[in-house]
Amino acid sequence: MADVREREGKGGERTGAVAGRKRMLTGDRPTGRLHLGHWVGSIQNRVRLQRELDCYFIIADLHTLTTKPEKDHIARIPDMIREMVLDYLALGIDPDAATIFVQSAVPQTAELNLIFEMLVTLPRLERLPTIKDMAQAADLEVLPFGLVGYPVLQAADILLPRAHLVPVGRDNLSHVEITREIARRFNHLYGEVFPEPDPLLSAEAVLPGIDGMSKMSKSLGNAILLSDDENTVTQQVMRMYTDPKRVRADIPGTVEGNPVFTYHDLFNPDTAEVDDLKDRYRRGAVGDVEVKRKLAKALNAFLEPIRERRAVFAARDGVVDEILHAGNEAVRLIAADTMQRVHEAMGLTYYRS
Ligand code: TRP
Repeated sequence: MADVREREGKGGERTGAVAGRKRMLTGDRPTGRLHLGHWVGSIQNRVRLQRELDCYFIIADLHTLTTKPEKDHIARIPDMIREMVLDYLALGIDPDAATIFVQSAVPQTAELNLIFEMLVTLPRLERLPTIKDMAQAADLEVLPFGLVGYPVLQAADILLPRAHLVPVGRDNLSHVEITREIARRFNHLYGEVFPEPDPLLSAEAVLPGIDGMSKMSKSLGNAILLSDDENTVTQQVMRMYTDPKRVRADIPGTVEGNPVFTYHDLFNPDTAEVDDLKDRYRRGAVGDVEVKRKLAKALNAFLEPIRERRAVFAARDGVVDEILHAGNEAVRLIAADTMQRVHEAMGLTYYRS
């Protein structure tokens, strides 16, 4: 029965929803173009999982309002969504296999969020370091109500399609834990509606930035974008941080934790070349320039087909809108089904019809 399609309406069929298959949901706030760290940390995983699981990728635009409610920020969201979706497509996320949708286009999210707000305490949320970190990063001294509720909104995202699996980075684990607590509390009070979703740690390795200091991030200015052209990539690689003790090519260097080699390990398929470079680096028999030139070449070879696919999608007018409209519609149908189950379980059905 594995490939009998679940009858959840047109959307469910289009996206290849298969009865009995586990659902996974994950997503990103719309931040525009993606970088190599996104690929290493999560997108790679999604491409791998998209045909095994029933996949939902949410573009969490409402979450950005928790720190950026200004209208000029909102005005930039559509563009950032488009750039991000083009990157998804270029990287091999297949809209026929996975459902990509926009959070604000599924109004049931807001209602489920409100119901969930009753099932979690303020101290539980205030304890989370992630909320404090986000407030700090946004220069906020006191917390907006909605920022405290960030993980609750995320729980609504996850549980609206009743997802079983949530691939996230380490920084989002506590939000999946809150989601599990809310699902448990709901099921305990009202009856079994939600699965208790399991996190799937997607990033064993956090890709360092080209400055080698922290994780790759566009706002830190240490990123290589997946859509960067060949010259930009080469320039960024030539600027890369390496072993600071190695002021001359004949001084033995450290390979471990050296970002140039971290990148070589991840993106250079010529393992013999990488082994040879490492060996000579340790002996002080290779210059940084050679190591970097070879890395730039490997990275550009990796990125070239991605850039080509991106250009093809970008040239097809309306393709992103079509994908998102179809995804939004599919998720609205699933959401309507979930909300009906929620209302019935709660007895919140009076005056509804
Ligand atoms: N909180 C995620 C981030 O760090 C984005 C997000 C919103 C998300 N809703 C989600 C991730 C649901 C996984 C599942 O940007």
